[in-house]
Amino acid sequence: MEATRRGFVRVLGSGAAIAAAGGLLSGCWDMPDSAVEGWEGPTADLRDPRVRALAFAILAPNSHNKQAWSVDLSRADEIALHVDRTRLLPETDPFSRQIMIGQGTFLELLAMAAAAQGYRAETSLFPDGVFAADAVDARPVARVRLVRDDGVVRDPLFEQALRRRTNREPFEATPLSPEHGAGLARAVTGGSVRFGIASGAPDVARLRRIGEAAWDAEIMTPRALKESIDVTRIGAAEIGRHRDGISVTGFMPWFGKAVGLVTPASMIEPDSMGFRIGLEMGRTHARTAAAFAWLVTLGNDRVQQVEVGRAYLRLHLQATALGVAFHPMSQALQEYAEVQAAQRDLYQALRIPAGETVQMLVRLGYAEVPDPSPRRPLQTFLRA
Ligand SMILES: Cc1cc2nc3c(=O)[nH]c(=O)nc-3n(C[C@H](O)[C@H](O)[C@H](O)COP(=O)(O)O)c2cc1C
Repeated sequence: MEATRRGFVRVLGSGAAIAAAGGLLSGCWDMPDSAVEGWEGPTADLRDPRVRALAFAILAPNSHNKQAWSVDLSRADEIALHVDRTRLLPETDPFSRQIMIGQGTFLELLAMAAAAQGYRAETSLFPDGVFAADAVDARPVARVRLVRDDGVVRDPLFEQALRRRTNREPFEATPLSPEHGAGLARAVTGGSVRFGIASGAPDVARLRRIGEAAWDAEIMTPRALKESIDVTRIGAAEIGRHRDGISVTGFMPWFGKAVGLVTPASMIEPDSMGFRIGLEMGRTHARTAAAFAWLVTLGNDRVQQVEVGRAYLRLHLQATALGVAFHPMSQALQEYAEVQAAQRDLYQALRIPAGETVQMLVRLGYAEVPDPSPRRPLQTFLRA
């Protein structure tokens, strides 16, 4: 489950008056500036082109904002990317498929940021061998050599890197424009990743129902829900301490937590306020989708998962350029028993041939642009 400040505040509208009265204290429940400072881009004191590129790469989208990246700069001109195995999601992502997609988003943004500085990113995937299908290990996901190249072309999508947001607002009741659908399709060309989109009313209605059913299945599975609750950070102090996970800002959640009404233990109880808000929020996400897009691979190996991440990053940047709100809904894609019925319905609805894997499912539409999500300080990603 992923929550938003506005979701909470909308449901608990009466809290607005109290929040206004407490305006002076809003530093307690607002997003702390330090947690989102990375979205200003690299600071002038960073001279090493690898580090400047990394300052963008850590802004890549990644599941539950766990930021499971660990970087080794010990070889000159080279960046070795490893999975930070202390940051996995074993309940909802038991094979680390989504964690690997998050390695791909990182590598794509890294390459774009290198190109913007005049460097070609020569990327060698799994240079010491590919991970097994069911585990990630200590070997590098990639070694990236930055090679000075005056001919390297700056990718126009890179301009969107600091503006990209995962959007968990309810979307407007406006259908996706055909031009925007076509524009998104243009972002995923070539390579091994196939793009699909549904924007016609009957297809969207069916996918909304599947998205809702998958959300219900996830939130009603306590061990899956707990994994989200464990990374939910409420209020400025908690967000500032962790700078990862799912941020909840706004007065009411902060107040609920401060007086002990909202606790990790209570949020998992189906009759609690936190649970009910979460349930309704996910259903609203699905119900307000104007369209859905998905990324598919033939097979599901580690290289393909990384490739999906690269394509997904490009797709999200293209959505940002077009002004299309973009929000992945991964519940139906996950590999645990409780969501399998929704997954079967999804594969049938999308007419996915046997052997292919839907790697990402995204709702699309139009909505207010949300605040950026936190990132840990750059130096915490660097191995000693
Ligand atoms: C593989 C993958 C799966 C994701 N699944 C979901 C999801 O099911 N629900 C959701 O709200 N966000 C999902 N996200 C988006 C992340 O939560 C988001 O990227 C992260 O919180 C950082 O926020 P940002 O994208 O705005 O920088 C997913 C991202 C990735 C890469």
